[in-house]
Formats: sequence, structure tokens, C-alpha cells
Amino acid sequence: MANYTTETISKNYHDAIVGWQQRNFPELSILEKYWDDYFKGQPPFQLVAKVGDVKSDEIQIGQYAGRPCLERAKQMVGNMFFSARDIIRAQASTELGSIQQHRLTLDRAVTDKGKFAVLRIMAEELRHAYQMFWVLDQDQSWKKPGLGDVAKQTMEELLSMELGTHVLDAFNIDFNDFLDNVTYATVIDLVGKYQLEMMQIFCYSPMARSMGPMLQEEAFHLGSGRTLLKEIAQMAARGEGDYSMDDVQRALNLWFPRGLEMFGSEEGGATAVTFGFKDKTNAEAQNLYIEEVRGVVDNINVAIIQERAPRLSRQDARALVEEISRSGDVKEGIRPEDILFLPSVKFFRRRGREEYVFKPFDVRGNLLTEDGKPYTPDKYLEYLTATLPHRFIGSREHRKFVDAMWDYLKTN
Ligand SMILES: [Fe+2]
Ligand SMILES: [Fe+2]
Repeated sequence: MANYTTETISKNYHDAIVGWQQRNFPELSILEKYWDDYFKGQPPFQLVAKVGDVKSDEIQIGQYAGRPCLERAKQMVGNMFFSARDIIRAQASTELGSIQQHRLTLDRAVTDKGKFAVLRIMAEELRHAYQMFWVLDQDQSWKKPGLGDVAKQTMEELLSMELGTHVLDAFNIDFNDFLDNVTYATVIDLVGKYQLEMMQIFCYSPMARSMGPMLQEEAFHLGSGRTLLKEIAQMAARGEGDYSMDDVQRALNLWFPRGLEMFGSEEGGATAVTFGFKDKTNAEAQNLYIEEVRGVVDNINVAIIQERAPRLSRQDARALVEEISRSGDVKEGIRPEDILFLPSVKFFRRRGREEYVFKPFDVRGNLLTEDGKPYTPDKYLEYLTATLPHRFIGSREHRKFVDAMWDYLKTN
């Protein structure tokens, strides 16, 4: 039994989302046609909002803890109203952006199974955008005197967003190959999971009720990402397939820093807790995220080792991963560059703590120096070229990073 009810949104917005889908995701019809071949027994895709339960009728955290949850946007006063709107807008932007990203390289899927996993992810992200539209559409009080119909403005803005104009950096980066689809589902969708989990206690109930069903779908995205990334790494370990271990490492180097920044500044997030929107600050959630990604990378490394040295047990393989990472030496014929590592939180950062934003830290978190002085910006950019995916270099988002770095250095 489904633990939610389904709703649709006003016809004009429903049609607008269908129109958006036809322009940005016409492949939905392929997924629908072959659904049973890949996902037999699972309920087919439906463009609806799924309204689940709330954990409590009382606000769980922050300045209004203990009071009844809010059903109407107009009950949120002052900054709270616009903060809530900004969260809903950012969430919907991630859903729509990810569809636009996945589509770029859908046809480069390594297997049909991989392609259909991505098609299903895209369909579910479309539903998540629809869900956020429902949050805005089901409540006529998303309006502010003098500022008009905030819901309408937000939905119209969302429908016009393209890659390059989405709210968060991670959703503007063009995918270049299927490794991006897979690394992204592993690293970026995982941030989504943390955000949705935190918002299960959102004091505005329509938002809180949206989280459970979205989380259930997110589990498929994460699972697919991990399985496919492991398969790609195992193939690389055998010297097969389209990608080398260096390619996989570079993809991690690209996406992990953007994942970290999706939490918002490491110093922030207290306001969202005070308002009763989330139950963790940015840094608290980010730390849990980092440990989870570390576990994913460890598991892939164990699979890589077992591919190269099949006689080793899982436990021995795990010990070998640790030994190679710690010593930096070749063990059992496996070199440090034959396995993956999680980039340092200081690497390739453009937001967050001043200590490392736009600073020349290497992937291991060491400050890059020459003659005892930190790398010049030009040397740092050369280093990034040597550690990020080849086709990211020179792209729109790479140029944006470089421009933002020069602007930052002028004023800091
Ligand atoms: Fe989503
Ligand atoms: Fe997702």
C-alpha cells in the first residue's frame, strides 16, 4: 500500500510542466513504452504530486518549536516566507536542471540498463519538480502585498531556467560523458537525500509531506549511481570499457566539491534551523555526507582490488586499500593511482570558508607551493587542468569559475 495520496496541480501549470517535458525530456515516452522490460512490478511513472505523512503535527525545532505546524504560507512572516520560497525554488531548480544535464549524454550510456536507469531518474526528477510546483500551487497564500503572486513568479522563472542559470552551481555543469551521469547520481543526488531528510520536519506542512515520497525515489537514484560507478571502475581495473581510473578520479574531483557546496556555506544554516525548516546546520549535514561518500569510495576500491587480486577476501582487500592509501606505495602490484580517493574538502572550492575558497589546495588538501610560496592563480589553474575532466576545461562553467576567481582575488 502506498503511504501517500496523489494530487495534481492547476491545469495551466500542469500543462506548462508537460510542455517543459516535451521540450527538455521527450525521451520520457521511451521510458513509458519499455517500463515493464526494466522495472516490471513497479508502479509505472505518473506525473503527480505524492502527499505523504508528517512526522508530527508540532513544529520540531527552532524558534516556534512546540507550536502547530503551518498549513498556509501566509503564516510565515517576514524573512521566513521568502526563505521558504527560496528553498522550494532551489529544490525545483535542481530537479529541472538535473534532467537537462542527464539528457546531454543519455545516448552515451554504457548499457541499456544504465540508459533506462537514467531515464527513470529523469522522470522522477520531473515528478519532484512537479511536487515543488504543487507546494506553491496548492496554497493561494503564496502572495505578498506589493510583490504580487510569488508562487506564479517563481514557477514561471523555474520553467525558463536553462543550464547556466540554475540556482546552484552543480546544476549548471554540462555533462560530457556517461561517467558524469553516473558520478552525479552517486555524489550529487546524495546531497539531495540529505536535504530531503532534513526537510521532513519542515514547519510548513505541504513541504514536509512532500519529502517521504521523494526520498523513496531518491533511493533508486543513489543505488543506480553506485552500482554503475562500481561497474565502470571494475571495468577500468580490468582495462576494459570507455573509461580509465584516471577518468573516474577526475569525475569525482569535479563533482564532489560542487556537492559539498550544495549544503551552503559551512558557517551557515542556522537560520533554516531557527525557522524550523531543517533539523541540521549546513556543516552538520555536510559532515555526515562526507563520511557517506567516503564509504562509497571505499566500497568501490574494495571491488577494484578484488578485480585485480581475486584471491583476496573483502576484508583483506579493504586492509590493502587502507595500506596503499596510507603509504602511497605499490602493494600486490597495485599502485595508488589504480584506486580512487575522496578529494579533500579544500580542493577546487569557490564557496565556503575563506581558508580555502579559490586557494591553491591540491586534491589531497595540501597547499600547492613553488619556492616556498603558494601557487600563483595561473599555476593553480594549470593544476586544475591536470586534475579535472579534460572536457570540463574551457567549458562555460569552467570559465565562470575562472572569472569568479579573478574577481575574488581582486577584492580579497
Ligand atoms: Fe529529485
Ligand atoms: Fe535524484
